[in-house]
Amino acid sequence: MQDQIAPSNQSITTPGFTCWLTGLSGAGKSTIATALATSLNAIELACEILDGDIIRQHLSSDLGFSAKDRETNVLRVAYICGLLNKHGINVIVALISPCNETRNRVRNSLNNFIEIYVNCSLEECIKRDPKGLYQKALSGEIKEFTGISSPYDTPTHPEITLNTNHENINQSVEKILEYLSYSKLIKY
Ligand code: ADX
Repeated sequence: MQDQIAPSNQSITTPGFTCWLTGLSGAGKSTIATALATSLNAIELACEILDGDIIRQHLSSDLGFSAKDRETNVLRVAYICGLLNKHGINVIVALISPCNETRNRVRNSLNNFIEIYVNCSLEECIKRDPKGLYQKALSGEIKEFTGISSPYDTPTHPEITLNTNHENINQSVEKILEYLSYSKLIKY
């Protein structure tokens, strides 16, 4: 009888988890978030991506890049993660989220929080400069730019560290999937 009512996909666990990608602008957070979502969808796991660039167009359009505004931005996103996780929806966050203390507050507020440090050297991010923002930050046109004129705290105890200087996207995503599987958050 039990078998008849068991859901066909048992890989979904509730509450959901949050993969929190932190790192410099240009480190690869958004790219990895998209690729990870594709891989999770492929095993029929629903997930939502909360990406800094998009969040700042909508939910946080009132905020700038002072330490206080960044904290507010990060905590708003964490609040949404909690709401989604509560209903079993997994979330992938791609936010610079530069402050260790704030990330630790988020860690303490969520059930299955996986901090993923997207590590890429500042030199490489400047070289990539996909949005031309580093050039503007270095010339002083943009103030309070992370890594140039605003600090980034290297995560002290991330669950996962990705080295996007050396790894390709598939390798990075594979590392995350292995961690999620090892932690019994997905069947992979
Ligand atoms: S966070 O610090 O509050 O977590 P968030 O991830 O939302 O930052 O936004 C970062 C994105 O905003 C960057 O990828 C970049 O496109 C843009 N941006 C504009 N100004 C800045 C700035 N001063 N510092 C960092 N990113 C900036």
